[in-house]
Amino acid sequence: MVKVLFVCLGNICRSPTAQGVFTALINREGLSNVVSVDSAGTGAWHVGDQPDRRAQAAAKTRGYDLSTQRARQIKETDFLDFDYIIAMDSQNHSDLSMKAPTNALDRIHMFLSFAPKKGITDVPDPYYGGADGFNHVLDLIEAASLGLLHDMRKRHFIGD
Ligand code: 4NP
Repeated sequence: MVKVLFVCLGNICRSPTAQGVFTALINREGLSNVVSVDSAGTGAWHVGDQPDRRAQAAAKTRGYDLSTQRARQIKETDFLDFDYIIAMDSQNHSDLSMKAPTNALDRIHMFLSFAPKKGITDVPDPYYGGADGFNHVLDLIEAASLGLLHDMRKRHFIGD
């Protein structure tokens, strides 16, 4: 099993969206027995909460159901448990790098490094903005999910 963990600050907006989008892609590609997907937050404020209503609504318009997800905080064992630990922004990346054991540092990646687009390195935090922000987050996540799957197929010899 190749295991992927998406990480943002609160685990109620960006990383649950990434979990929903990437899970749908994995299912569509018939890879659900080979790839597992989870998400977590670097912060603990929203532990146990459902994804933000606005994130759920935006995701639903594209056919992704986030309603069964509940927020959790990243924990020590995650760093060795997951093959890919995917940060939504550079602050998440830096927080994860400080918490991770040295032998797990190379598992931490910026999500948008899988969707190279000039000038954009971070999936922006949509929490304090409007609905537009959530649609922009979805656009970025859908593009990066395709790139991540491509990387997985190469690195882990998962068949097409
Ligand atoms: P997320 O968004 O990191 O994409 O889940 C946020 C959610 C909550 C807060 C910040 C960002 N907050 O400060 O409560």
